[in-house]
Amino acid sequence: MTAKLDGGSPRLVHIGVAHTPFSDPRDVEEPQEAEGRLEIYSRYEKALKDVEGFSHLFVIWLFHRSEGCELTCCPTRRSIPPPRGLFATRSPYRVNPLALTVVTLLERNGRFLHVRGVDMADGTPLLDIKPYTDRDRKEGIRCGWLETAGLRARRDSEPSEEGS
Ligand SMILES: C[S@@+](CC[C@H](N)C(=O)[O-])C[C@H]1O[C@@H](n2cnc3c(N)ncnc32)[C@H](O)[C@@H]1O
Repeated sequence: MTAKLDGGSPRLVHIGVAHTPFSDPRDVEEPQEAEGRLEIYSRYEKALKDVEGFSHLFVIWLFHRSEGCELTCCPTRRSIPPPRGLFATRSPYRVNPLALTVVTLLERNGRFLHVRGVDMADGTPLLDIKPYTDRDRKEGIRCGWLETAGLRARRDSEPSEEGS
């Protein structure tokens, strides 16, 4: 397979839609404790087989309510300068408007997943679901500028209110 630099779009389809308490992206709350329902479209329901065995899931979704991208930005709600590189942030204004959230799976009801930890607006298109496994747990992580800005503990043991 030949990779093209700056190559075009891969084929992406919406697999479902998020139902969350946040009608507007600006309403999304920190810390991420809100519950929501992920509706998977019936043609993909078969792909949910065995998902209920996992306590946590990665949800890949579209920042469909943000326009444009900024290669440097002050991403947190407090907009603390100096600007950081986009790829060192979770800013919604990205080259490719892709988002990733780890949620806790509370219950599966057919093609609906009841989850905790949503940070996407109501009606957000979903692109993929993957299991979060022990392989994804990393020890000794560093959180760069988030630590120096006081937005993360120096070790990965303490939750933080922003920057995720
Ligand atoms: C900081 S981003 C992090 C998202 C994801 N956890 C990630 O790391 O890719 C979360 C913010 O995106 C914004 N947001 C939520 N849903 C959105 C949507 N559908 N389109 C654009 N922005 C959205 C909200 O302001 C929310 O606080």
